[in-house]
Amino acid sequence: MTSAERQAALEAVAAEVSACTRCRLHTGRTKAVPGEGHPDTEVVFVGEGPGFNEDREGRPFVGRAGNLLVKMLGSIGWRRDEVFITNVVKCRPPDNRDPEPDEIAACAPYLHRQLEILDPAVVVTLGRHSLGTFMPGARISGSHGTFRPTDPATGARNALTYALYHPAAALRSTEVERQSFDDVAGIPAALIEARARRAPSEATITPTAEPAVEPTTEQELVSVAIATGAADDTIETLDLDPDDQLPLF
Ligand code: URA
Ligand code: SF4
Repeated sequence: MTSAERQAALEAVAAEVSACTRCRLHTGRTKAVPGEGHPDTEVVFVGEGPGFNEDREGRPFVGRAGNLLVKMLGSIGWRRDEVFITNVVKCRPPDNRDPEPDEIAACAPYLHRQLEILDPAVVVTLGRHSLGTFMPGARISGSHGTFRPTDPATGARNALTYALYHPAAALRSTEVERQSFDDVAGIPAALIEARARRAPSEATITPTAEPAVEPTTEQELVSVAIATGAADDTIETLDLDPDDQLPLF
């Protein structure tokens, strides 16, 4: 798919979400919140569901939790418009209660389609309910800051799932906030690992592909080497210098 085709496909999903009545959450919504972001991104963030501000604006993570998420992205040099941000349920649960399993199941086809369209390298889960969708049975206390291969049944064909605490939990506890910034610092290394895992099949699809950009940092050198099939699996032990940043675009 071209970038324009992905954009159009994402807009088609968003239009369906806005008119959706598949679960009871549609009765209480002001605006549905399909999600937003860059159609060509490699990284998708998945939260739980819209809160008060998101319901009013129709956009994900625009309240206090959203501000903290933007700060966390900034700590690794990324902006919110360079990733895609969505939720497991697209309509606000009343009084910000947890989404029910049947509501998550009713809404799942939309997330599945978004992931199919975006084909991300990394899916970052925000909080328990998102974690439960991507790593069934995993506990947030043991999984935050770690990643594992994403089940292709989620719609993300070839991705790693990286677990984070929900930013709202970080707002309630300075210890969780500190831990969350630590966890976020591990996302670029997960992306490099994900690119390495995706490279072989992509290289066979586009054998004539050249690196589009001149590598400017050591990390880019590594990822460009992988994209051209020049690297071996030493990538597994790559440590990122925390002062270096891995640009998404
Ligand atoms: N919390 C979420 O899980 N999602 C949002 O969009 C906003 C807050
Ligand atoms: Fe439809 Fe999802 Fe909203 Fe339920 S939460 S009404 S399934 S868009």
